[in-house]
Amino acid sequence: MGLSTLLLWAGLSVGALASGAPRPKVYDYIWNRAAVVEYDQWETVGNPGWNWKSMSTAMLKAENYTGGPAGSGTKGPLHASVSRYVPEHQKLFVPTVVGSLGIPENNNSLQGNPIGVMFQPSSVNATNYVRSYSANAYLPKAGSNLEILTNTLVAKVNLKKQTRTSSSHR
Ligand SMILES: *[C@@H]1O[C@H](CO)[C@@H](O)[C@H](O)[C@H]1NC(C)=O
Ligand SMILES: *[C@@H]1O[C@H](CO)[C@@H](O)[C@H](O)[C@H]1NC(C)=O
Ligand SMILES: *[C@@H]1O[C@H](CO)[C@@H](O)[C@H](O)[C@H]1NC(C)=O
Repeated sequence: MGLSTLLLWAGLSVGALASGAPRPKVYDYIWNRAAVVEYDQWETVGNPGWNWKSMSTAMLKAENYTGGPAGSGTKGPLHASVSRYVPEHQKLFVPTVVGSLGIPENNNSLQGNPIGVMFQPSSVNATNYVRSYSANAYLPKAGSNLEILTNTLVAKVNLKKQTRTSSSHR
């Protein structure tokens, strides 16, 4: 999470709390990842196989991070890119935090150590600058046996030998 994001969230949260208003909706498209230790703790508390190694492997398969550092995913269907436009006032964020607070710049924040200050990528397709998300990334890849139910709440998925045979929904 970049400083601009932190500041944005801090501002919104304080504003929402102070006014008693419902939490505002923010569509900020952040492409983010937690620290190694956070995923590894999932396994420690009783979820075998849920750890940084397995989660990051899966996340890299999903990712196509244009302009990302070495080690980023480049073949996945979900696009990530750092915004091509940095407003004048935001250009001061990184040098100010590095210089005044001594917090290091970290351009590899998605690789297990998110501590530092950086511009985070957004889930935006760097070719056409359109938001990239599950629907426009994965649906075109689905087979003809995909059935989409809108306005539907899934109550239970009945799995049988790794095949969805039926589901209960309302
Ligand atoms: C990754 O994204 C870039 C920018 O949109 C695109 O040119 C490239 O074809 C994409 N790669 C894959 C494997 O989809
Ligand atoms: C991080 O990336 C920015 C933008 O490409 C670059 O100006 C800066 O030198 C990089 N910082 C480090 C510590 O690699
Ligand atoms: C990204 O943009 C390119 C160019 O418009 C398009 O061909 C591609 O399908 C887009 N990818 C996704 C996953 O939306």
